[in-house]
Amino acid sequence: MNEPKIPAEAQDVPVEVLNRKEFLWRELSANNALYYTYDAPVISDAEYDRMMRELQELEEKYPVLTSPDSPTMRVGAPPLDSFETFHHDPPMRSLENAVTEAEVFAFEERAKRFLLQTYDRSIETFDFTCEPKLDGLAVEVIYRNGSLHSGGTRGNGISGEDITQNLKTVRGIPLRLIAPVGGPEPPAYLAVRGEVFMNLRGFEKLNRERLEKDEPPFANPRNAAAGSLRQLDSRITATRPLDVAFYAVGRVEGVSFHSQSHLLESLPKWGLPVSPVWRKCANLRDAVGFYEELLSARENAPYEQDGVVLKVNSMELQNELGSTSRAPRWAIAYKFPPKQETTQVEDIVFQVGRTGAITPVALMKPVRVGGVEVTRATLHNEDEMRRKDVRKGDYVLIQRAGDVIPEVVAVIERKRPPDAEAVLMPGECPICATPAERPEGEAVVRCPNPTCPAVVREGLRHFASRRALDVDGLGEKLVNQLVDSGLVSEPADFFALSKEQLSSLERMGEKSAENLIEALERAKKPSLARFIYSLGIRHVGEHLAEVLAERFGSIGELSRAGLETLVSVHEVGPQVAERIVRFFSDVRSKQMVDNLLMAGLEPESPRRMEDSGSGGAAFSGLSFVLTGTLSRRSRSEAKAAIEALGGRVISSVSKNTSFLVAGERPGSKLNSAESLGVDILDENAFEQMLARNERS
Ligand code: IVH
Repeated sequence: MNEPKIPAEAQDVPVEVLNRKEFLWRELSANNALYYTYDAPVISDAEYDRMMRELQELEEKYPVLTSPDSPTMRVGAPPLDSFETFHHDPPMRSLENAVTEAEVFAFEERAKRFLLQTYDRSIETFDFTCEPKLDGLAVEVIYRNGSLHSGGTRGNGISGEDITQNLKTVRGIPLRLIAPVGGPEPPAYLAVRGEVFMNLRGFEKLNRERLEKDEPPFANPRNAAAGSLRQLDSRITATRPLDVAFYAVGRVEGVSFHSQSHLLESLPKWGLPVSPVWRKCANLRDAVGFYEELLSARENAPYEQDGVVLKVNSMELQNELGSTSRAPRWAIAYKFPPKQETTQVEDIVFQVGRTGAITPVALMKPVRVGGVEVTRATLHNEDEMRRKDVRKGDYVLIQRAGDVIPEVVAVIERKRPPDAEAVLMPGECPICATPAERPEGEAVVRCPNPTCPAVVREGLRHFASRRALDVDGLGEKLVNQLVDSGLVSEPADFFALSKEQLSSLERMGEKSAENLIEALERAKKPSLARFIYSLGIRHVGEHLAEVLAERFGSIGELSRAGLETLVSVHEVGPQVAERIVRFFSDVRSKQMVDNLLMAGLEPESPRRMEDSGSGGAAFSGLSFVLTGTLSRRSRSEAKAAIEALGGRVISSVSKNTSFLVAGERPGSKLNSAESLGVDILDENAFEQMLARNERS
């Protein structure tokens, strides 16, 4: 592990602060690597965020603790006026494309012929390394002696923009490379190249948040990634869910790679993520097989891919093949069919959502997009509909990303029929005819009637949905049936359903009815965060629900929180706070929550770090001072062990100190402890005490 160095000026910083800082630093860096390189996080996002805030606060209070490769440097720096130029050495080339199998075979033939003609070298078959072609923005990051030095966009291949500050906020990009035990040391100089992208979950969430805030949504994950990375204000980049996968190197000193597969195996050892799927193929047939596999799994992939990149595996052959001015002769991008199509808008209708939002939806001539038939696409809201100027009869470019509803990207204006007709937002709710409202400064037109059948239905669907209570088998169709048959009108009703009632529904057998009842039973113990999210409080998305669950610990505490308390929570603004207060003071929503609790729902509180200090923890109320060197644990580990049992570690001895833990070569603290009559533990006694309590 890289140990943070403590500068001489830091002598003034209390030892417990230094220890805490070291602990946080290490936890944050380690978890980053686990999360991004090995896809195996051990702490929740909320816990990560909390540790990050704590470290930021420490660094603010003790500026000597700051350092350019601290994990806090991921939060962004003050905005720039413009980007500097970033040069690539050697240039970052582009890739040749193939869209048919024949083109891929032709590529291999060309490569063979080139080797034969230029080097008189005859090759039977190439080994290929195949990787998904991720759809984001290509970047280069330079590490000097293992520390992130700078980074830039691809630009025109020769030079791009220096986006060092922005890249540092991308959590998957290590600020320092890891030196694996017994493994290859990170090179003295490494220019590593890859794609920064946004996964679909992050993209969908970002767009939902943008729509809530009346900001225009991004058209696709690639635009979202590119837009986020090219911000002059890196603090904005820091809030965007960006991922990275490295796939090539530029200039390198200190190591060499004999093949592309060797490169892809080496990078993760230094903490640099590569695509989670790639394959070494013994010939072109196998490579095409890999393409087909990825294509058929495309619909379920967590990120957008626009094809597979085939690379001749051997670096020696790559060097011989070289490049044309545009692209290497040793690689090709075998593209997937596009997920964009054009079609014609037949009508524009209005749909009412859970929050009463009235959304314009384009009904279109059916068209297949990336293998799925599409007939509807969202226009998001009135402003978006106007901005894109979509009219009935227009030809439009539509696109699908992940499992989100397809959307209209743009109108193809040159094909607009003379009779294309603009459609106005309705003045009243299309379902219950209540006059619609568009609050000042908002982009959304709403039906304000909380008992509007559409609002109720959508609220119930939301409650049961995957991200909320996640009731197996309780999909949209069934919710509709239950609402239409009058069996369910609020969430608690789901839990009162009997097998008889369910099996009386159309297309519902006895077995499915039983399964559903079991699924409902299982759903009765959601995490508090899911429960909060499932209530459908406006502006409270998944992330905020987690934050609230962490902070308040129970639904009762949350419902009693006043405006001031809520606003004091990091990430809760006045608008959101007001919504939450309003929700819990509304008789109907209060009743709805009470009914759920009465129906047997038991949200589970998050395990809170603060909790370990109170209640039944073994070291609760005890304070420890550490002095000297411990042989079995580092200071920070000892501190963590004490804290895990609810104790506190403080820096100086007083008569109120519970124990002094004295390691090798103790300092003057030992004398103070002796004269104040504080209990002294040597390392053995301390370890025994920990062991006794950790076991119980
Ligand atoms: S290799 C000389 N590998 O595709 C090697 N590129 O059209 C050139 N891309 O600018 C790049 N995934 O943005 C390579 N696994 C991958 C890739 C990949 C995405 C992008 C990259 C590049 C573009 C070339």
